Amino acid sequence: MRTTRRSFVKTAVAGAAAPVLGPRFLDSLERRLEAYQAIPPAAAATEEAFWREVRKAFPPHPDYINLENGYSSPQPMPTWDAFQRHESTVNNGLSFYMRRRRAQDYASVKKQLAALAGCPPEEIAITRNTTESLGTIIHGIDLEPGDEAVMCDQDYGTMLEQFRQQSRRRGLRCVEIQVPLHPRDDQELVDTYARAITGRTKLLLLSHMINITGQILPVRKIADMAHARGVSVIVDAAHSFAQVVFDVPGLDGDYLGASLHKWLCTPLGAGLLHVKRDRIRTVWPLLGETSVPADDIRKFERLGTQPVWTMMAIADAIRFHNLVGGARKEARLRYLQQYWTSRARGIPRVYLNTPEGDRACAIANVGIEGLRPGVIAETLLDKYRIFTVAIDTAPVKGVRVTPHLYTTTAELDALVKAISEMARA
Ligand SMILES: Cc1ncc(COP(=O)(O)O)c(C=O)c1O
Repeated sequence: MRTTRRSFVKTAVAGAAAPVLGPRFLDSLERRLEAYQAIPPAAAATEEAFWREVRKAFPPHPDYINLENGYSSPQPMPTWDAFQRHESTVNNGLSFYMRRRRAQDYASVKKQLAALAGCPPEEIAITRNTTESLGTIIHGIDLEPGDEAVMCDQDYGTMLEQFRQQSRRRGLRCVEIQVPLHPRDDQELVDTYARAITGRTKLLLLSHMINITGQILPVRKIADMAHARGVSVIVDAAHSFAQVVFDVPGLDGDYLGASLHKWLCTPLGAGLLHVKRDRIRTVWPLLGETSVPADDIRKFERLGTQPVWTMMAIADAIRFHNLVGGARKEARLRYLQQYWTSRARGIPRVYLNTPEGDRACAIANVGIEGLRPGVIAETLLDKYRIFTVAIDTAPVKGVRVTPHLYTTTAELDALVKAISEMARA
C-alpha cells in the first residue's frame, strides 16, 4: 500500500517518541565500540559493523530517509536519556540546584567544551546557538558610520541580517562578495576576500563551512591575510564544530560562534562563543555585566534563567562524541557524502554545487538542469520518501543533502537512484 505523504509524516512524528534507555546504555555501547578502537580513522570510515553499532545509539528511524541533518541533529539516545535525567534532577530541587550546584556544573561543562575546542576555558562562554554567539559580537563591537564589514552571499542569512541591522543603526557599510562554488585553490579564495578589503574595513565574516553547499573555507589563510591588513575576523563555525576536527585557536579568528545542537548532537539550544583573550575587552556584553573586569569572558555569561539541563547535557554529548571519535566521525561523514556525490556526478543533467575532496565533509548540494530546487525536494519527499531541503538562492540552486552518522549506504543508493530517475524523466 502506498503511504501518502501526510500519513507517513504523521507516523514518523508519532514514532519519534523513542524509549528512554537506562544510564548503562552508554557503558555498554562503549564496550561494544572498544573492539574497534585500534582502527585508524580513514579505515574506520568504511567499517560498517562499527557504524551499525553507532546507528543503534540514535532514535528509531522515521518512515522516511532523513538526509536533512544540516538543520540540527537528533540527540543520540544516551545524551537524550541523560538530558531527561538532568531535567528531573533539577526539577526535584530547582532553587537548590540553581543556587548550590549550577555554577559547579557550568564550570565543569565549560572545561570539557574548552578541551574539545582546544582553547582555555577563559576564552569561551556557553550560549544558546551561533546566532546568539555571533550576535553578541556583531552588536557588541564599537562601530563608526562608514566602517565596513566584508561578508559573502553564501553566509547564513541570520548573520547577514544582523550586519544589515548594524548598517541601519550605526551606519556600517556591508560589503557582500561572491565566493566561487568550485575554487581552483585556496589562493583564489584568499584573493576574493582580499579584493573587498579597503582602508575602512573593520570586520570580516567567514563561514568555516558554508551551510548551503558544504564548502569548507580556508579560514586560517584568509584570517592571516585579513589580520595583515588590520581587519578582525568573525568565524561562523555553526556547521564545522564537531563535524570536522580543528582547534579553535588554530583558525585564528578573533571571534567564533558554533551551534552545539548541530554536530555535537546536544539538545537544542546550546552554543559556543569563543573570543581571543586580547579581544574580550573590545566587545560590549549585550545584556550588561559590570561586576567582572572588561577582559573577563564571564561578562558574556549573564544571560538570565535558562533551561540548565541543556547545558548539563553538553557533557554527555561530548562523551558520546569522543566515544565515536572526532576524526572517525569526520572521515565517515566525508565518506558518506563522497559515496553519493561520486555516483551522482556522472549522471547527465545533474550538477553538484559542492567542491570535491577535502573542501567539503557531510554536506553537499545537488541540482538537476531544468528542475527548480523546490520541485526536486518535493519529488524526493513525495515519491521517494527522501527528506532534503531546497536551496534556491542567487548563487546556489539545488537541494542540500546531509547524511548523518546513522545514515546507511543503502539509503544513499536510494537517493542516487531517485536523482537519476528524475534527471532521465
Ligand atoms: C552557517 C550557519 N550559521 C549560523 C546558523 C545559525 O545557527 P543557530 O540557529 O543554531 O543559531 C546556521 C544554522 O543553520 C548556519 O548554517
